Amino acid sequence: MILRAAVLLLGLVLSCRADFAPPTLNISLDDDPDVRWMPLLKVFDLDYLKKAAAEIIDSTVPKWVHHAIAPAVMSLEKYLPQPYAGEIRGMASHFGGSVSDVILLNFAYEISAFCTSIVAQDKNGHVYHGRNLDYPHPVLRNLTVNIIFLKNGEVAYYGTSFAGYVGLWTGQSPNKFTVSGDQRGNERWWNWWKNLVSAFLLGRSPVSWLVRETLEEADNFLDAVMRLSKIPIITGVYYIVAGVQAEEGAVITRDRTGPADIWPLEPVNGAWYRVETNYDHWRPPPARDHRREAANKALNATGQDHINMDTLYQVLSLFPVCNGITIYTTTMSAATPDKYNTLVRPQGCHMTD
Ligand SMILES: *[C@@H]1O[C@H](CO)[C@@H](O)[C@H](O)[C@H]1NC(C)=O
Ligand SMILES: *[C@@H]1O[C@H](CO)[C@@H](O)[C@H](O)[C@H]1NC(C)=O
Ligand SMILES: *[C@@H]1O[C@H](CO)[C@@H](O)[C@H](O)[C@H]1NC(C)=O
Repeated sequence: MILRAAVLLLGLVLSCRADFAPPTLNISLDDDPDVRWMPLLKVFDLDYLKKAAAEIIDSTVPKWVHHAIAPAVMSLEKYLPQPYAGEIRGMASHFGGSVSDVILLNFAYEISAFCTSIVAQDKNGHVYHGRNLDYPHPVLRNLTVNIIFLKNGEVAYYGTSFAGYVGLWTGQSPNKFTVSGDQRGNERWWNWWKNLVSAFLLGRSPVSWLVRETLEEADNFLDAVMRLSKIPIITGVYYIVAGVQAEEGAVITRDRTGPADIWPLEPVNGAWYRVETNYDHWRPPPARDHRREAANKALNATGQDHINMDTLYQVLSLFPVCNGITIYTTTMSAATPDKYNTLVRPQGCHMTD
């Protein structure tokens, strides 16, 4: 009796913490950039979106800075490339925000996203890719959305993003490759300004826009790696890429102007997985951050014989790989595009889990 009560209680505790799938939306690239994000309003409440956006901006930019830079952000708007300019303008006009706030919001996520990405290959040559997206703002859990981008009415690529954000940190080009981005270095809000100016005036791409462009345009894994390595971006980042064939997996360490390092899978030499958090892989991580070691240990314990989408998800669920600020986990494999899976972590993960 007591045991049953305990089991029931445990069940309740688990079920109210259970990971949940975010909504999935079709966004058609055949529609004008201005209106293509309207489907967001089918699954998100407009008032909630407005409140959430205000909260994120308030917690990221000091109020006086926000007021001071709004006119300057507006004057930069004309330098935004298409289709992002149209998408941002469209969201501002249909969702009732200011264009400068939607621009700020799109750059707010460019900073302080701590993440873990893993690419791994099993004994049969299947390649798996998983990622945790960590961000110190709980409201993003309710803004997470899977997006299927359609072109000519057919699936062009997938991504996981946040309502209001036009770039992608996680995505899949079906039967071609998958990509995730992890932040490199410690950017601060006062660097936004530098980033914004360099983005628009020097024609550099925000890192998440290059992910989206690559998903849209690259033909295969190698083409994706070349684009993600070479095209100038506004800030350093790690791009993790996985393909459809054995040995197609790599971590690209990016400087603004080009690659600092490319770290491929080397299964013949025993390197059947690569783990990237937020530090250069050839340097030790800071002593307080144990995510890399925990993931390596868990992958070693799993073994190449047993790695698959489920065990990869389990590795990404272990504390501190998954931690208090983990927003969502995606597992994907370009060769089996239908298995693309994102789950939101309603309360993150904690030591006692
Ligand atoms: C999204 O588009 C695909 C391809 O046209 C279609 O099969 C699917 O039913 C659509 N899903 C939704 C939720 O509209
Ligand atoms: C997210 O949405 C749920 C259900 O609508 C709500 O209870 C919760 O407070 C929201 N979380 C945040 C951080 O806004
Ligand atoms: C994982 O295994 C590799 C290869 O045997 C080893 O070099 C590495 O130290 C192990 N890592 C951890 C954290 O156990």
